[in-house]
Amino acid sequence: MHVVVTGGSSGIGLEVARIYARRGASVSLIARNLDRLDAARRQIEQASGGKAKVFSVAADAAIPVEISAAIEACEAAHGPCDILVASAGIVEPGWFHEQAPDLFDAQWQTNFVGVANVVRPVYSGMRRRGQGRIMIVSSAAAFIGIPAYSAYCGSKSALVGFADALRLEATGTGVSVGICFPPDTDTPQLSRELKSRPKEAELLMGRIRPRPAEEIAEKTVAGIDRRSAHVYFTASIAALGLFGPLARPFIEIWYRLKSRR
Ligand SMILES: NC(=O)c1ccc[n+]([C@@H]2O[C@H](COP(=O)([O-])OP(=O)(O)OC[C@H]3O[C@@H](n4cnc5c(N)ncnc54)[C@H](OP(=O)(O)O)[C@@H]3O)[C@@H](O)[C@H]2O)c1
Repeated sequence: MHVVVTGGSSGIGLEVARIYARRGASVSLIARNLDRLDAARRQIEQASGGKAKVFSVAADAAIPVEISAAIEACEAAHGPCDILVASAGIVEPGWFHEQAPDLFDAQWQTNFVGVANVVRPVYSGMRRRGQGRIMIVSSAAAFIGIPAYSAYCGSKSALVGFADALRLEATGTGVSVGICFPPDTDTPQLSRELKSRPKEAELLMGRIRPRPAEEIAEKTVAGIDRRSAHVYFTASIAALGLFGPLARPFIEIWYRLKSRR
């Protein structure tokens, strides 16, 4: 079994890669920074006593030719991709009217277009072979507007439409398409993000203790095992995912009242 993980050098993606390596799968890691990729590959190899089959390649998910070439290299190393976990993502909190357009665009290009860019080169092969599993890492921020997260919320909620449409297109092909919605998770991304998370965002989200990345990765992999369409992680995220349109007006009223105090 060959598992490709974008964002596999850090956080949730790295923990997903570790799980599959422990299961004996061949694993390919894709991210931009070569040093962090090498470090992640060595960590996984050492933890397995040198038995894990790990390939890594640097590519920017936002650049189609780079990511297609990376997938080609992964498949040359380990054979056709059986499972794709698209975890590469970035977050740059900032008020829309203040945020530099390139920071806004980078989040869209990585979080939304970057996912489509990596699904494209694996999906046709999966369809041809009549088997494959795709899991897209979105965020609980897909379900609710958060002040100072317009680019992030927009990109993560767009993934819901993408995944849901692709799942229906894939009906009867043997390819499953899932999407998961992590809450705050203890990763390098969250540590960076918290430094610039404004109080208005915290007011809306509350102070929830971040989940360990290992726990989120385990539940993500369990969702892939079951070919789940949606992986919610907590009851409140499931409620938002299932009843978001009903709940959102009340959340907005509550936020306006709270922010007046
Ligand atoms: N942590 C949270 O609280 C949380 C909550 C909800 C959802 N999520 C989502 O979970 C996913 C993983 O986040 P994380 O917290 O594990 O973050 P992380 O520790 O910062 O890991 C992000 C990974 O994505 C890679 N990456 C970023 N931009 C990329 C690009 N343009 N092309 C290729 N690789 C790229 C990074 O490596 P390079 O920088 O070297 O490219 C790194 O390997 C993201 O999609 C994130 O939005 C996270």
